[in-house]
Amino acid sequence: MIDLRSDTCSRPTPAMREAMARAPVGNDVYGDDPTVNALEARTAALLGKEDAVFMVTGTMANQVAIRAHTEPGDAVLVDQQAHVYLLEGGAPAAIAGVLPRLLPGVRGIFTAADVDAAVGRPHPFSPSTIPAPPRLLCVEQTHNMGGGSIWPLDALLAVTGAARDRGLRLHLDGARLWHASAVTGISEAAYSAPFDTVSVCFSKALGAPMGSCLAGPTTFIARARRFKQQLGGGMRQGGIIAAGALHALEHHRGRLGEVHALARRFATAIAALDGIALDPATVETNIVRFRLARGHAGPFVEAAHARGVHMQPSGADGVRAVFYLDLTVADVDRSVEAIADAVRTLDPARPLPPSASRVAPV
Ligand SMILES: Cc1ncc(COP(=O)(O)O)c(C=O)c1O
Repeated sequence: MIDLRSDTCSRPTPAMREAMARAPVGNDVYGDDPTVNALEARTAALLGKEDAVFMVTGTMANQVAIRAHTEPGDAVLVDQQAHVYLLEGGAPAAIAGVLPRLLPGVRGIFTAADVDAAVGRPHPFSPSTIPAPPRLLCVEQTHNMGGGSIWPLDALLAVTGAARDRGLRLHLDGARLWHASAVTGISEAAYSAPFDTVSVCFSKALGAPMGSCLAGPTTFIARARRFKQQLGGGMRQGGIIAAGALHALEHHRGRLGEVHALARRFATAIAALDGIALDPATVETNIVRFRLARGHAGPFVEAAHARGVHMQPSGADGVRAVFYLDLTVADVDRSVEAIADAVRTLDPARPLPPSASRVAPV
């Protein structure tokens, strides 16, 4: 089975497992695990921030950030298809008690005018105590639901500038920030500079079994450590896991270009198939999202699965395929063959109803 469901299907290599087995460890909760501390310092340096804290998952890093930036009842501005809003189990409501205020992004990318409109202007006749106070803007780089889209730096500077002018704090969900930097050559620190805090993941395409970091100012990270503990995120001999993340940073991050080439090869080949709607130019990193011109995504991914390729349906007619380090050119070519065969099973008598959702997530 060629598993294209998610880049989190990347596996630790023998060298990574070796590094994990040899890692010096202490106790993460007491702050004396040397490998966790080394990972936090390395990540903070890469992102140009004062400090960082190791987390179990990207979800935990994002949701601790939201909790630590806000008070219950605050409003948080997010793209309408943001991972923190759609795909983190309702955590902003459940954990931070905040209200999302949605921005109309296109492939996850919105404008300074959208931020301005979402904050709104106070009116002298309307008490400022009535609306939920907008406190935080979250941005996602690269954007998962946007198909791995990259925020151009000038667009990032425009929205973060608008948010700062309106007194908002700024968090970057950089689960795949490494991917943006690998394509553009703009450093992770440059993309992170306009933000107060940044989360990154070591398990997305890079082979680490798990783990994320949240980076930001020292005082903020101290507060974030409290919420990490509150959520049960203390990892004791976490150095074993942190060693996998460090190995991913040092040995795998520099190879993401190979992964992006696989995604492009796949996209170009399937775009030529009758029944697949995809513009390969929209594939910027390692995520390929395509639509079916007829039939439904559920039966299609089942047909592909029966032919040895595992993908995720996304909404009524959308499909997601994601690429990572373990995959090869031969895997891509075999996937294309299987998809070419599966697409022939699509039922032309079942055109998509016009009202079918385009946004149901994965
Ligand atoms: C953009 C983005 N942010 C955050 C996450 C959450 O990461 P995790 O699965 O480690 O909780 C994901 C997961 O795919 C993601 O795509």
